[in-house]
Amino acid sequence: MKNNILKILFVSLIIVFISIVVGCASNLSNSTKPGALLWGENCGRCHNVRPPSNLTDSEWDVAVLHMRTRANLTETDAEKIAAFLKAAN
Ligand code: HEC
Repeated sequence: MKNNILKILFVSLIIVFISIVVGCASNLSNSTKPGALLWGENCGRCHNVRPPSNLTDSEWDVAVLHMRTRANLTETDAEKIAAFLKAAN
């Protein structure tokens, strides 16, 4: 009987531990995602994803500024997306 309670406690502890590790890992990977991936994940949510060749560097600066607020992106993510678009246009 006592043994069973210990087992349940042990399993719960492991589950809590795994969720913490997975939670932290996914946060980390979000901030380390490259611009191309962030672009693919975010910029096709509301409209067709616009290819880098659509706009010039300065036009992308303006478009990403507008879309940053729409897509609710962090400054770092928006900068990475802009850098990717300007490198690939
Ligand atoms: C929440 C929805 C939403 C997301 C996410 C979004 N867009 Fe848009 N986008 C719009 C809407 C609505 C328009 C058209 C109206 C406008 O121009 O403001 C638009 C228009 C555009 C245009 C047309 C040119 C312009 O400035 O009007 C470009 C280019 C563009 N988006 C690029 C992007 C990029 C790059 C991303 C990713 C960072 C992105 N969009 C993410 C909603 C979104």
